[in-house]
Amino acid sequence: MINIHRLTSHLHDLSTIGKTKEGGVNRFSYTNEERLASEQVKQYMVAAGLTVEYDAVGNLIGSLEGEDDLPVVLLGSHIDTVPNGGKYDGSLGVLTAIEVIHSLNEKDIRLKHPLKVIAFKDEEGTRFGFGMIGSRAVAGTLTNDDLKRVDQQGISIEQAMEQYGFDRDQFQSAKIENVKCYLEVHIEQGKVLENHDASVGNVTGIAGPVWFQFTLTGLSEHAGATPMNQRQDALVGASLIIAEAEKIAKEFPTAVATVGKLSVKPNGVNVIPGEVTWTMDIRDIDKDTRDEVEQRIRQFADKIAIERRLDLKVSELQRVEPVRCDENIQEVICDSIKEIGEPVVSLPSGAGHDGMQFKDRFPIGMIFVRSKDGISHNPKEFSSEQDIEKAANVLYRSILKLDVK
Ligand code: GLV
Ligand code: MN
Ligand code: MN
Repeated sequence: MINIHRLTSHLHDLSTIGKTKEGGVNRFSYTNEERLASEQVKQYMVAAGLTVEYDAVGNLIGSLEGEDDLPVVLLGSHIDTVPNGGKYDGSLGVLTAIEVIHSLNEKDIRLKHPLKVIAFKDEEGTRFGFGMIGSRAVAGTLTNDDLKRVDQQGISIEQAMEQYGFDRDQFQSAKIENVKCYLEVHIEQGKVLENHDASVGNVTGIAGPVWFQFTLTGLSEHAGATPMNQRQDALVGASLIIAEAEKIAKEFPTAVATVGKLSVKPNGVNVIPGEVTWTMDIRDIDKDTRDEVEQRIRQFADKIAIERRLDLKVSELQRVEPVRCDENIQEVICDSIKEIGEPVVSLPSGAGHDGMQFKDRFPIGMIFVRSKDGISHNPKEFSSEQDIEKAANVLYRSILKLDVK
């Protein structure tokens, strides 16, 4: 059993770092807020009995010894946020893992397997339009080219790393070998558990996001003096493409396509928009479906660009493949849910998570906590203390069940 009061007080205290006036949280990678939050989490890790270090990319890692030659069990999530994000997304997973270790240590329960709790660097991708930086590094798939991606100020990931004292040249040393499995607790961020009246859920797999940046260039001209049939209006072109993306994604039951960021140049009331840049996030639990949605949106965009004499550039920001959770770990999680007397609900995750980076490397499992009204990436994000306690106890039991040679 875990200590829910300690866990919720940590969750509350952490949410004050980077707090926004709307009651949300802003914590982006390689910033002072994120550094402060990491130092706070480091204290919780030390108090839980973990030995703590930062790796070369800035993942915060708390380690617990086990018997010498057994593979390591990884637990974790992230403490960065989306703009004006909620206090549960990511933080809950890191703090729950720490709480489980703290409780095990208080009871003098020793694990056979060594274990690491990781607060992964930049899961959300807010700052560089490229997420899961820390988990890619742990998986060994982060590349030199990735480190050259820049934020809106033109600062690259490698510059940001150096600014915060991390050694860019050593980034490959963050890879972790000889791993038994990865487990993560996360809020559901949807309504499935709520609809089933269930506190917790077992995750079957994670939908894969692909992110693009579209730039459509036309001609900035006088809004009063340019007849409608002579315009190369980039914003009208963008609007048609965005509306069609919604239509295409709606043809598939589980596909989603989202434009979350858009900028118009020169952005004047009486100037025809000459250039529009926007992002597109496309996902599905099935890779073929996602690829089809992507292809159809891109073909439509090409068609609009030709018809309207606009120049279209599309660059891929990131592509993460959908992942299935390990059957054996799912069984362990389902058994643990049953043991605490809860109904077993299994569901896929529409949101992305760090564990996706471990595809084809080692097995993963995830435990979801019910989200109020399914709201997430929003200051209103909420999960109850009772549900959190249940999820933490499911993690506690799952770790013990998986700790066999
Ligand atoms: C992260 O929350 C994502 O799914 O983009
Ligand atoms: Mn998120
Ligand atoms: Mn998250």
